[in-house]
Amino acid sequence: MDIKDLIRTIPDYPKPGIMFRDVTTLLNDARGFRCTIDDLVQLHVVNQVDVVAGIEARGFILGGAVAHQLGKPFVPIRKKGKLPAETIGVEYALEYGTDMVEMHIDAVTPGQRVLVVDDLIATGGTAEAAIKLIRQAEGEVIAASFVIDLPDLGGRKRIEALGVEVQTLCEFEGE
Ligand code: PRP
Ligand code: MG
Repeated sequence: MDIKDLIRTIPDYPKPGIMFRDVTTLLNDARGFRCTIDDLVQLHVVNQVDVVAGIEARGFILGGAVAHQLGKPFVPIRKKGKLPAETIGVEYALEYGTDMVEMHIDAVTPGQRVLVVDDLIATGGTAEAAIKLIRQAEGEVIAASFVIDLPDLGGRKRIEALGVEVQTLCEFEGE
């Protein structure tokens, strides 16, 4: 099964010139969804993962399923202001302005081996903020896994420069 064939592209969304890679069509295909999770899990059966961290919002869908299949706990990394207990936060740059991701201060304990999961890596800004957050909590980020890589935007190199292994299931390059 080719996962890439099940990802829909919406031209000019959310603004002119952007080719939006839409994973909802992949999630809406039962075999596609299962294969995606199986492939993400396969990358980690040999790694010792203690906890899976998913990045809001689409990373929740994938990360939750990966955690379930690995039999490991799940930690949500959320956009600012959504978590009820004490949090730590890391800001990251958007095209205009900044945003922030947050995590409960007690969600990851020192020394835990954390796998970060999201649907897509573009510039890598979101994933970098998530990694910094986990490191603030003294967790060890063992890898970051994504369904889609947009290599033209350089995210993989940015995350690898932080010393974190990056795994992706497919890429859209120069398209
Ligand atoms: C998208 C995507 C990744 C992030 C990748 O999420 O799901 O999380 O952008 O971009 P980057 O590598 O340049 O940081 P978005 O912030 O649009 O929000 P959503 O997942 O809540 O829809
Ligand atoms: Mg996202």
